Amino acid sequence: MSANKNRFTPEELQEVAQRLRDASPTEIIAWGVEQIGAANLTFACSFGYEDVALVDIVRSISPEINIFYLDTDLHFKETYETRDRLQERYQVRFTRVATSLSLEQQAKQYAPDLWKSDPNQCCRLRKVEPLRRHLKGYQGWITGIRREQAPTRAHTEVVEWDPAFGLLKLNPFAFWNTSQVWNYIYDKKIPYNPLHDQNYPSIGCEPCTRQVRPGEDPRAGRWAHSEKIECGLHNTPLK
Ligand code: ADX
Ligand code: SF4
Repeated sequence: MSANKNRFTPEELQEVAQRLRDASPTEIIAWGVEQIGAANLTFACSFGYEDVALVDIVRSISPEINIFYLDTDLHFKETYETRDRLQERYQVRFTRVATSLSLEQQAKQYAPDLWKSDPNQCCRLRKVEPLRRHLKGYQGWITGIRREQAPTRAHTEVVEWDPAFGLLKLNPFAFWNTSQVWNYIYDKKIPYNPLHDQNYPSIGCEPCTRQVRPGEDPRAGRWAHSEKIECGLHNTPLK
């Protein structure tokens, strides 16, 4: 399946990534639409601040681009409210992608607080496998990752091949900094998660996200109770 989906050689993709480095996020996504068609693209929206800005951009390019969120059933209530405000503002219904394993079943079959005892397994069940199933229906996905976010993301290109899921990956904000994204949000008055104003710069599931203290890294509040730094959506193999 992955071989069929990759119509580019590594050299071609590298050349495109180089050429589009300074292009706007709109131009980067428009390139993807031109190559594979809007209906073959899907955007992974976590409702974090990069992603609310991307909702605005994606909707302005084509209503045909699918927008989905991975619902772990463990998001903050503010995150669900942000989803609802965006749906209202952009008149769109986001696709809910989730495991069929309820939290009760997970507690019985694995452990009551699996996110504490084995967060990799919990992320695999509630995020990575549902994502893998969803991406099978598409030729490319759009994400909000940025180079600045973490050392593991420092080499992100605006256009790349995703070897883990076997499809094209567009990261239109790869080279943007935090202020550029926030300026875009303020300028367009885009609804965003109010937790960002309460020292939550990076927001994931409630049990695995805490506020950061002054001077801490913006991602210090993610999986603070474990060594984990990525959940496996972005090429980092799960140990
Ligand atoms: S994570 O891997 O640590 O959870 P992060 O929160 O930084 O990721 O988000 C990076 C990008 O991954 C987001 O911009 C988004 O594209 C995707 N992503 C993360 N969480 C979700 C989610 N729950 N649903 C959909 N996409 C997500
Ligand atoms: Fe589970 Fe935490 Fe991963 Fe959410 S972020 S799926 S609660 S381990």
